[in-house]
Amino acid sequence: MALGDLLRAPLLQGLTRDALLRMDPETAHGATISALKLGLAPEQAVADPPELAISLAGLDLRNPVGMAAGFDKNAEVPKPLARMGFGMVEVGTVTPRPQQGNAKPRLFRLPEAQGVINRMGFNNEGHDAAFARLKGAHVGAILGVNIGANKDSEDFVADYVLGVLRFADVADYLTVNISSPNTPGLRNLQADEALTRLLAAVLDARAKAKTRVPVFLKIAPDLDESQLDGIARVISGTGLDGLIVSNTTISRDPVEGQENATQTGGLSGKPLFNLATRRLAQVRQRVGTLPIIGVGGIHSPESAVAKFEAGADAIQLYSALVFGGLDLLDRIKRGLAAAVRAQGLASVGGLTGRTTSAWADGSARL
Ligand SMILES: Cc1cc2nc3c(=O)[nH]c(=O)nc-3n(C[C@H](O)[C@H](O)[C@H](O)COP(=O)(O)O)c2cc1C
Repeated sequence: MALGDLLRAPLLQGLTRDALLRMDPETAHGATISALKLGLAPEQAVADPPELAISLAGLDLRNPVGMAAGFDKNAEVPKPLARMGFGMVEVGTVTPRPQQGNAKPRLFRLPEAQGVINRMGFNNEGHDAAFARLKGAHVGAILGVNIGANKDSEDFVADYVLGVLRFADVADYLTVNISSPNTPGLRNLQADEALTRLLAAVLDARAKAKTRVPVFLKIAPDLDESQLDGIARVISGTGLDGLIVSNTTISRDPVEGQENATQTGGLSGKPLFNLATRRLAQVRQRVGTLPIIGVGGIHSPESAVAKFEAGADAIQLYSALVFGGLDLLDRIKRGLAAAVRAQGLASVGGLTGRTTSAWADGSARL
């Protein structure tokens, strides 16, 4: 038996979903990254059907389902994730300097609701380490780099500018993440004046880079409609390429009283779905045809279809993979293709926005 096989057999047996769910959540995450690094990812068995191909902000995706930021914070496994069948992989959040993040434990499962609460606090190895891994890499899917600011930075805006300058030439797109609840003060960048200044600096930096890399802005689901009005006003006419809606929520309404619900941090997974999807639809009503990546609580083929119908052009997920296992990706892609065919459409893009108003006013829910 080759050494690789010797290593693989016990690891594969050990890393079943049940075993991962019995481990401390952060240990399980580390084990999953290690397994992917060793090449243990299940490879996509069949090519994506042509109706799943989309064009997003000038990027050609073979399918519209992405791995959300925070799973591969240090850009260690974008290639294995692409081989598994994600049409896009977003690595990060990366900050200019390495930082430890918050004290452990900082990641919690809410098994009853299939939710997750995290207060990781942008633990990452910094720009240099991620850049070294990504330089010259052929990922095999659209590669996004999600950029952020160091917790102890004296100038958050300057940190984003450094991120743009560093990653513009190795990423297919960049995400400006101003919506993590775990870096004090970060979400204040969503307010009109601060956002105006941030976007001007970021887009100016993009203009200085060799490549015109698409830039997305990732926002929180905890913004109300007047704050969404403000964001729509600020971004219009700026050259921003799209929005990602949304990050985790600080609200606990759907999980009140459940195990771990009182932990500080951002809630994600199934209990985030209705809130994030309503916000997505409300954003869609304010930004016309601007590209939107819909994230938050996708946990089934039906919820993936609903995300498009609410107004998404593409989707990402993370938390549900903790509970649903990696075959969830295949089930979601099959479900999307089936919905496209059942509705007599040519492409998954035809699903976008079919029920935006019902999601925006709260009458549609899952
Ligand atoms: C453990 C964990 C870490 C995360 N880290 C980041 C991050 O570094 N940057 C970011 O933009 N989003 C981060 N997120 C948010 C996800 O990208 C996503 O927006 C959110 O979890 C909602 O999607 P989901 O319900 O499918 O998980 C993180 C989420 C989790 C669960």
